[in-house]
Amino acid sequence: MKTLIIYETKSGFTEECARTIKNQIPDSVMMDIHSDEFDINDFETILIGAPIYEGEIEHYTSRYFSIHKLKLMKKRLGIFCAGMNTEEFNYAVQESMPPDIFYEAKIVHCGGRIKYKNLSLKEKFIVRRRLGIKHDEEINNSEKMEQFINWAKNE
Ligand SMILES: Cc1cc2nc3c(=O)[nH]c(=O)nc-3n(C[C@H](O)[C@H](O)[C@H](O)COP(=O)(O)O)c2cc1C
Repeated sequence: MKTLIIYETKSGFTEECARTIKNQIPDSVMMDIHSDEFDINDFETILIGAPIYEGEIEHYTSRYFSIHKLKLMKKRLGIFCAGMNTEEFNYAVQESMPPDIFYEAKIVHCGGRIKYKNLSLKEKFIVRRRLGIKHDEEINNSEKMEQFINWAKNE
């Protein structure tokens, strides 16, 4: 049965995670969550990726969880989220989705990346204040991602 990988991204990190997953799952399909070219009914396993900004999962994806909750609950559901605040990760994820999804889905922190020089002044201010970050930084969670991918492959 095929696997659908849908992702939302602002600066590209979550998309890279989605591609890493896609490259390791034969017969998987990868789509931007904003695309209307997929139907989750066609897939058995659904993997959804999104970043955390200002304490919450990006809003299009969190709305998607609420709107499609009943359909998603019938699937094998995996969620991979990017963020630079490891301590706040569980709280931010839990706050951004219906409890049924939070407790049923396999959820992984896929890491995160800040390219400080690419941020706007406002974003730099938020990142300094919220995350204490003033330079380029990256969190690599490749071991957790490998476990997540093995779970998605049903191994
Ligand atoms: C303005 C701004 C706010 C952010 N807020 C948070 C946050 O509240 N918690 C967190 O864990 N990471 C936060 N991040 C880090 C992002 O989640 C991280 O850069 C992630 O890799 C972005 O993914 P993307 O490239 O797919 O958009 C923030 C980043 C920016 C630029």
